[in-house]
Amino acid sequence: MKTQITELFGIEHPIIQGGMHFVGFAELAAAVSNAGGLGIITGLTQGTPEKLEAEIKKCQDLTDKPFGVNLTFLPSLTPPDYPGLIEVIVKTGVKVVETAGRNPAVYMPAMKDADIKVIHKCTSVRHSIKAQDIGCDAVSVDGFECGGHPGEDDIPNFILLPRAADELEIPFVASGGMADARSLVAAMALGAEGMNMGTRFIATKDAPVHQNVKEAIVNASELDTRLIMRSLTNTERVLNNPAVESLMAKEKALGDDLTFEDIVDEVAGVYPKVMMEGEPEAGAWSCGMVAGLVNDIPSVEELINTIMTEAEEIISSKLQKAI
Ligand SMILES: Cc1cc2nc3c(=O)[nH]c(=O)nc-3n(C[C@H](O)[C@H](O)[C@H](O)COP(=O)(O)O)c2cc1C
Repeated sequence: MKTQITELFGIEHPIIQGGMHFVGFAELAAAVSNAGGLGIITGLTQGTPEKLEAEIKKCQDLTDKPFGVNLTFLPSLTPPDYPGLIEVIVKTGVKVVETAGRNPAVYMPAMKDADIKVIHKCTSVRHSIKAQDIGCDAVSVDGFECGGHPGEDDIPNFILLPRAADELEIPFVASGGMADARSLVAAMALGAEGMNMGTRFIATKDAPVHQNVKEAIVNASELDTRLIMRSLTNTERVLNNPAVESLMAKEKALGDDLTFEDIVDEVAGVYPKVMMEGEPEAGAWSCGMVAGLVNDIPSVEELINTIMTEAEEIISSKLQKAI
């Protein structure tokens, strides 16, 4: 399949693996890229330029296909060394960066000078337009369904994607709630040039996370995610568990008086415990509603091949027959 996204990134299939904290390691990124999609290493999981450089080199040993690095710009009193991380991305010859969170404008010149393609992930049409205006090459439009941070507008992809299509000149992929061939074809019908998946890629053989996490996603239904931290304007969609229930009880009790310190036990330092040590109930971790569509743990190659084969069938058979 050829779309503006496959052309832009030099990949075979219009499928991107979104950056994921403590999931987007070299093994997963390389597996996605080797299967013809675009794998993404999560920069902040590595944290320092030295560690990111080592992870990029590991990925380069595992694939000679294009892959990217995710840089999530968070508000922080002690921000990560973003200039240092970008320096390493440039030095190692990575040609794609997925930015997310705050506006990456100040870092655009460094990336553009190095001929890096930037895809910004955002949850609204206005932020997508801003990304276009500051020179991003593409956008990942993340609907309300998504795992992680859906923003505060709560617009699902059936509205958000065609709205983005009406406003944007640069290509965009659909993100949030994407799982299979039906997602890809529907996203393209709504104006996207491909899709970005997070949760679906965790439940694959190649994701270097504990089996318990993959099984937790397979066992979850579309009813099992919760939105937390809304009163902190930092809404996150997570998989429900007893720690999340306890966090939500505090939110209910404290209302607008809730501070980050009140919920630090349920959210801080959770990812290594969940993803590496296999304790899915250790705290709150991002997961999309799409868990309801995830019923197996295939290899990344099997997953992507099935999506592409079935997408072509839907287009050439079902849709063709309808007209
Ligand atoms: C466990 C997990 C961790 C994530 N961590 C990040 C992150 O560090 N940076 C980021 O930009 N997005 C992060 N995301 C969001 C994904 O990149 C992607 O946008 C999202 O999962 C898409 O929705 P889906 O889960 O419905 O496919 C994370 C998602 C999950 C499920």
